[in-house]
Amino acid sequence: MFNRLLLITLACGPLPSHAFDYFQPLPKQVPVPKDNPLSKAKIELGKKLFFDTRLSSGNSTSCNTCHNVNTGGTDGLAVSKGVNGQPTRRNTPALWNIGFQTVLFWDGRAKSLEDQFKQHVVDAHITGYTEANELLKRLQSIPGYAAEFKVVFGSDITLDRLAQAVASFERSLISPDSRYDRYLRGDKNALNAQELRGKETFRSVECLSCHFGVNFAGPAPGPALHMGDGFYELFPNHLGSSYDASHRIADDQGVFEFDHDPAHRRLWRVPPLRNIALTAPYFHNGSARTLADAVRIMAKVQLKQDLTDQQVADLVAFLNSLTGRVPKITPPHLPESNTTP
Ligand code: HEC
Ligand code: HEC
Repeated sequence: MFNRLLLITLACGPLPSHAFDYFQPLPKQVPVPKDNPLSKAKIELGKKLFFDTRLSSGNSTSCNTCHNVNTGGTDGLAVSKGVNGQPTRRNTPALWNIGFQTVLFWDGRAKSLEDQFKQHVVDAHITGYTEANELLKRLQSIPGYAAEFKVVFGSDITLDRLAQAVASFERSLISPDSRYDRYLRGDKNALNAQELRGKETFRSVECLSCHFGVNFAGPAPGPALHMGDGFYELFPNHLGSSYDASHRIADDQGVFEFDHDPAHRRLWRVPPLRNIALTAPYFHNGSARTLADAVRIMAKVQLKQDLTDQQVADLVAFLNSLTGRVPKITPPHLPESNTTP
């Protein structure tokens, strides 16, 4: 299933210092695929689609309903409500800085933002559509969109074009200048003593062996990891803690659930940690209510360590410093339907 399943086993002992840049500031530019160059007009079109409830079959939800870009990127629920009020299978991830991820979804089953969109819009729980054609027909009937696709792409509305427009908007969601970034760029006063202690604890207890790089989600796209290749780890890495039952963290089998390869049981994409303070609750099932809970559970089930209250507080302080400047997104003016749906 995966061309290259990059699995870094937990290093016993010091982290190899040569392999990757462990602490990396957020780059100014996201990687952009050659066949979908960014343009202002394309981003604007993608933004309209992102805010448009007509992308769901019952007009009930837009992408922004669940991935609310003005509340840190999520809806704050353990799992979201899909069309018809049914719960989604997993917690809704935030989309800020998502353009730096090489694979998408908790289990990494999509190889690009474009691919992710094409899978997502025919997910009955998410949009209520099961056929891309139903969605395309709906959008083609809106004169404003038909005209705008002509201008932006010189073509009719197709699934590929839709995906390209929405992916372009998603690539524009960048939250720069966290205090952590300012620190790495040379402002030594940007982090206070507790946050610096937390940063050191993040390294010494080896959170960094999995969460490193631009998004703390593994190598950034580049020579070490190509777009479409994922960085996966076990979760829980150590089975048998009380959290298996209390937080049901081992019920969902991650990558195994879609490729059915027994070697991939409990394998998950290492998720990003930027803006993590804004996106409670945590984990693929939203079972950890606070950042302190998530940190304590991570240490126990990933690293077999019981942290002291001081270590937890320091780590949480460090994670709080990863919140970037999240620009306010003004909801766009949407083209009118020419028929009542
Ligand atoms: C009903 C809530 C809901 C709606 C509406 C919704 N999503 Fe999602 N989205 C989710 C959930 C839940 C996941 C995680 C699913 C998984 O990993 O299995 C997700 C995952 C994603 C991801 C991958 C994020 C990552 O960290 O890899 C992207 C990108 C995304 N959605 C974009 C969109 C777009 C674009 C739309 C509008 C067409 C949309 N979503 C509509 C709930 C929603
Ligand atoms: C062995 C690899 C590994 C180690 C070590 C590790 N993590 Fe994680 N982390 C993961 C994976 C995989 C997930 C996704 C869990 C899931 O699917 O719910 C995760 C999830 C998280 C989340 C929740 C993210 C979200 O969006 O809900 C936080 C917070 C977190 N880790 C912090 C830490 C901290 C702090 C440490 C050190 C105490 C740590 N992690 C150690 C692999 C690791």
